[in-house]
Amino acid sequence: QAILRQDYVAPGYWVDTVEMGFDLGLKSTLVANRMVMRRNHASTEKDLVLSGESLKLVQLRLNGVKLKKADYQIDGETLRIPNAPDEVTLEITTQIQPSKNTSLSGLYASKGNLITQCEAEGFRKITWFPDRPDVMAKYTVMLRADKKKFPVLLSNGNLIDEGDLDDGRHFAKWEDPFKKPSYLFALVAGTLVCQEEKFKLKSGRKALLQVWVEEGNLDKTQHAMDSLKKSIRWDEERFGLELDLDRFMIVATGDFNMGAMENKGLNIFNTKYVLANSSIATDIDYAGIESVVGHEYFHNWTGNRVTCRDWFQLSLKEGLTVFRDQEFSADLVGTTTGRAVKRIEDVRVLRQVQFSEDAGPMAHPVRPDSFVEINNFYTVTIYEKGAEVVRMYYTLLGHDDFRKGMDLYVERHDGQAVECDDFRAAMADSSGRDLTQFERWYSQAGTPRVSVVTAYDAEAQTYDIKLTQSCPTTPGQEKKLPFHIPVAMGLLDADGKDIPLYCDDYPAQAGATNLVIELTAASQTFRFNKVTSEPVPSLLRNFSAPVVLDIDYTDEELGLLLANDSDPFNRWEAGQRLATRRLVKLTKALQAGEELSIDDWFINALRNTLNDESLDPAFRELMLTLPSEAMIAEAFDVVDPQAIHTARQFVRATITRHLKADLLHVYETHQTPGKYRPDAVSMAKRSLKNLALSYLLEWADESTFDLGYVQFKEAANMTDRLAALAALTNFNGTEKQKKKSEKALRRFFKDFKKEDLVIDKWFMLQATAHTTDVEKVRELMQHPAFTLTNPNRARSLVFNFCNANPSQFHAPDGSGYALWAELVIALNKINPQVAARLARSLDRWKKYPVGLQAQMKAALQKVSATKKLSKDVAEVVSKALAA
Ligand code: ARG
Ligand code: ZN
Repeated sequence: QAILRQDYVAPGYWVDTVEMGFDLGLKSTLVANRMVMRRNHASTEKDLVLSGESLKLVQLRLNGVKLKKADYQIDGETLRIPNAPDEVTLEITTQIQPSKNTSLSGLYASKGNLITQCEAEGFRKITWFPDRPDVMAKYTVMLRADKKKFPVLLSNGNLIDEGDLDDGRHFAKWEDPFKKPSYLFALVAGTLVCQEEKFKLKSGRKALLQVWVEEGNLDKTQHAMDSLKKSIRWDEERFGLELDLDRFMIVATGDFNMGAMENKGLNIFNTKYVLANSSIATDIDYAGIESVVGHEYFHNWTGNRVTCRDWFQLSLKEGLTVFRDQEFSADLVGTTTGRAVKRIEDVRVLRQVQFSEDAGPMAHPVRPDSFVEINNFYTVTIYEKGAEVVRMYYTLLGHDDFRKGMDLYVERHDGQAVECDDFRAAMADSSGRDLTQFERWYSQAGTPRVSVVTAYDAEAQTYDIKLTQSCPTTPGQEKKLPFHIPVAMGLLDADGKDIPLYCDDYPAQAGATNLVIELTAASQTFRFNKVTSEPVPSLLRNFSAPVVLDIDYTDEELGLLLANDSDPFNRWEAGQRLATRRLVKLTKALQAGEELSIDDWFINALRNTLNDESLDPAFRELMLTLPSEAMIAEAFDVVDPQAIHTARQFVRATITRHLKADLLHVYETHQTPGKYRPDAVSMAKRSLKNLALSYLLEWADESTFDLGYVQFKEAANMTDRLAALAALTNFNGTEKQKKKSEKALRRFFKDFKKEDLVIDKWFMLQATAHTTDVEKVRELMQHPAFTLTNPNRARSLVFNFCNANPSQFHAPDGSGYALWAELVIALNKINPQVAARLARSLDRWKKYPVGLQAQMKAALQKVSATKKLSKDVAEVVSKALAA
């Protein structure tokens, strides 16, 4: 059942051109497809092989002759034509039923509109086709539909003709000048309106940019348009890559499985990553839109012009494009701390989600060796770890050589479908570096650990850093070979200043204060000379490799790094280490029934950071945010979610008790009066101010409650309103205050009931509230605004509860798991991709106490025993059960 990377066989036939004709309707759509194909003599596959799913075959003609049943075989999703000639024109007519398609893959209906999603294997739900990314063809698409119901008809490329037909119908003909794999095909038909603009490209050519939305949403498209223009500029400037089309369209839909999709010239987005104005979107939403618009746009070169040979190479385009969107966001902020803030946010996700994936039953290499269902492999490993792998080239080669490598990659492979190895070769060839060992980042799963032992010799004035690497076993991979790990580092003297580095292994960089040392062996010692007093090492600066760094620091050393490190990432890291150490200790104290307390030294370190006006408020916000419960859990072999939650809440309340005056001061001095602006400075102020508010409401007190209540009522933007509502919802106060909080929640619903994205927030807020238990979730599921069929809504309540409310989800009675099983089974019937995502909430079941393990296992078995289980869900639960 599993597909293996090593079984790759080139396609038996290439497709040169595809001409499609669509007679569009919600209930029934007729698809005519004429493919000009030619035998690939280099392939061992002699048959003409096509894929199809949920299609009604109306007609099949080969070189003008209608094929009889005996001329071809259909076996499941494969249609095979043996003995076909070398040159083939294949004409296929199929009938499909968009309104019955709840999987949101292929052609489907959304609020009366028709939308496609073809990556990874959705095109085969539209027509029979060699639906694999190495088959690249030129498409011409004729769309026909009722003009009243579907006034707008869009597809990839350029509009070359349009006009009216009989019976109130009309047509639009589109031609995409670039050859592309089928997963980049798209069409949109329906009632939509657009904001548009002509934009001058670097070459002087003008392109038409459009953002299409449902009627009534044109007041929410400006930010997406601005983000698109910034993206186009950025790719011209940073990578010399220009938009290759005369027209670039973005379409927003409320029914979408993922964030967005990079279809050539016709990007389709989840509304969440398009629609924004100050009253409905938060600062985080604004940032998300900017980065996703960038991401999809950047795919035009890294993904579309140069694509993947097969789906095992998915990270070739995704890892690279995530790296590019991360750099885009960082460049837009521009400042050193701004860049560090972005880096910290990205690393937080990597550690919390990807490290966890790497340690669980679904662990897989950045370039997997096998999969059952490719949709299950759009993972944080492929995306975020893949981006880290690309970032390591950047760190190893430096800015200029990395750019040369990118230039070479695009120049060599434009118009091709290639492998991760081709990217590595381009980086090696352009820089002259040996990147042979670097391949292991693609082939070996698991998060490497690097442990550190140091030795200072005062007499010889030498300082030795011994690094030892290892990597835990992952499914199917017992033994691991050493990785090529770039470790950016510096050494701090007793005043916290960087000292000049004289490392035996890097004579060319003698005297630098920041060095990238390269760990390639299992164990390696780096000697530093002219070290006049014992330094404090600052290792893995800017998180230069996706590894766990095991190093024994004293509190004092961490304090020195926290206050002084020239690398802002490691300043933050030192603070996280100090906090984690205490959170782990408190969790254990709770389990042992001991009294809880926190040292003043730690509280004072936080106070100093909070009040340090020389620090960017966004950076202070990150420094003052404690590691999440999920992050703390990683420090334990056996996780006790309730104890972790209680310990973290205890630290938060203690911080508030000691720093109330400081927090109030910060709250008052970081207001952003006037018109809402989503710029870095205002966003930073709001984030620190709202963190202060959330701390202040951690401690039951009349005045702080009112602070939150007033902010909620008087907020001039969604960022402040939602932050206040979240703080109120989690406030543990008097009955009267609780009533007021509930009233605020009801008010919020009423005010925004027409805004789906805001109602998602309303559900999310409740799903993640400390007090929301399983029963409350079941009650919310009965709310008229709740539905499982819309992925955003399902995620807002159900996914958030299962993934982001651990102390309630892991209720000792197992009720959370029973709910999970019911929902996975229900979603499996509606939308297998979404069901399989939820299924992953129990990935780490082996990390819990045996009592909980037994209940989780029972829930997994219940799902596994369900009839008509999709490949998607079956793969996830069977791998979990095999753990
Ligand atoms: N390529 C898209 C992106 O990175 C995601 C598509 C995901 N599709 C899927 N079926 N899992 O933006
Ligand atoms: Zn992508």
